[in-house]
Amino acid sequence: MISGFPALSAAEAAALIDHDDVVGFGGFTPAGSPKAVSREIAARAIREHEAGRPFSIGVITGASTGPSLDGVLAASDAVKFRTPYQSDPELRKRINTGKTQFFDMHLSQLPQAVRYGFLGEMDWAVVEVCDIRPNGEVTLTSSVGAAPTFLHKAKRVIFELNHRHPAALRGFHDIYEPEDPPTRSHIPIYHPADRIGTETIMVDPAKIAGVVETDLDDEVSAFDQPNEVTRQIGENVAAFLAAELHAGRIPADFLPIQSGVGNIANAVLSAMGSHPGIPAFTMYTEVIQDSVIHLMREGRIKFASGSSLTISSDVMRDLYRDLEQFRGKLLLRPQEISNNPEVVRRLGIISINTALELDLYGNVNSTHVMGRQMMNGIGGSGDFTRNAYISIFTCPSSVKGGKISPIVPMVSHLDHSEHSVQIVVTEHGVADLRGKSPHERAGLIIDRCAHPEYRELLRRYLALGGTAHTPQSFDSAYAFHRAFLAEGDMRKAVITAP
Ligand code: COA
Repeated sequence: MISGFPALSAAEAAALIDHDDVVGFGGFTPAGSPKAVSREIAARAIREHEAGRPFSIGVITGASTGPSLDGVLAASDAVKFRTPYQSDPELRKRINTGKTQFFDMHLSQLPQAVRYGFLGEMDWAVVEVCDIRPNGEVTLTSSVGAAPTFLHKAKRVIFELNHRHPAALRGFHDIYEPEDPPTRSHIPIYHPADRIGTETIMVDPAKIAGVVETDLDDEVSAFDQPNEVTRQIGENVAAFLAAELHAGRIPADFLPIQSGVGNIANAVLSAMGSHPGIPAFTMYTEVIQDSVIHLMREGRIKFASGSSLTISSDVMRDLYRDLEQFRGKLLLRPQEISNNPEVVRRLGIISINTALELDLYGNVNSTHVMGRQMMNGIGGSGDFTRNAYISIFTCPSSVKGGKISPIVPMVSHLDHSEHSVQIVVTEHGVADLRGKSPHERAGLIIDRCAHPEYRELLRRYLALGGTAHTPQSFDSAYAFHRAFLAEGDMRKAVITAP
């Protein structure tokens, strides 16, 4: 027994989960995702398939997970449907071949979609914790995500008690679940550091099927060092924000930053941290990554609120060694609060996210390669972008050795419309789209952001559209994409009058 609950091996826990069950796994990114029970569910799926029996489950999580969850479950063909976000190559392959049904949704909406019953009943919650008490009180580990809602809504619960995370993490979480309409009240966060909830979650002890002990690192990979392109993008963002501050459009003590995930986001934060024109700032974001911890140690970030500590193992070990230094400076919230549109609008967040492609008018595709292949999902980019004080999208001006221009005449899939996208930044410069007509926006994006090799083609497209409010040509709108699919190079696009 562990704190009065049955001690289970991961295999015993996995054996409780049936074919067709819907499972809510805790965690947000690989941070705090279960790592042991999921491996045994995958092993079980393989055995069932070998015996000629079907076995797959619905997988609902906070966001992406690690290889020990999405990776192994996908590789064993055990994922029937998946929501709301993923970034695993095996799972991506199955989503893009129709083997797994994937529902891409705004991360802030996932918990309420579960509570409203929009995603059906939840049979199991499997959640990683660092402390469990006999009364069912638990402390989460390196993330919150949607775990509070899963623990309330699931019929039964399995915990992974991961000794790699100290019980002293108690106090780093702020657990708050809004009431559902029509009785929902305002969310009383007026500063990124405001606490509005509890440190722990109370779970009905009668629902707890058992506890699996583990001692495993989060599977977060370290970021690449910034290269010439990502470094320049970071510097352009930092210079733009410093100029906005200087112009009085950002208050003197700055505004909270939301920063997406990935190498560009990491480079942007590093550049902001070293820019002399940017004061020490706060973050109200979704994912707290390595660069935030480094900048906090340097005094450049004063406070960070997020839903996960998505930090690599070495940085995590150092953080846990100095944990008390970070108490009161880091706060982990449920994703419906870290990404909440009401709070984002109130705090005046500056959002910085990465586009897969964007078009001449400022429409952004964050999710679909060539309009058809799902990359990861919209994640929290929509939660923040639509409601930000200033919304920024970054991307390199060309990828795949110049064969793809992320700046295209018309996006092949739309995630963020021209109405939500204010600033576009590549390594060449910054296009400030605020208050600009479609014609003006196109000119700025071509002149300031597009790769020089693509500027003439984009200008030709713009001219083809004539003097319309939004110049478009149905014949050439996808000329870039067609050229890439036919000849492997967008530079061969043919932009012609019909
Ligand atoms: N067409 C085809 N491929 C493209 C492309 C385009 N327009 N733009 C980029 N790519 C490729 C890159 O070449 C790279 O390929 P590789 O893995 O073979 O090298 C891959 O897409 C990823 O690009 P990368 O430059 O490594 O970007 P990233 O790691 O910064 O991720 C997104 C970019 C858009 C995929 C990522 O930011 C994302 O999933 N965003 C949506 C969710 C989000 O914004 N979350 C944050 C909110 S808090």
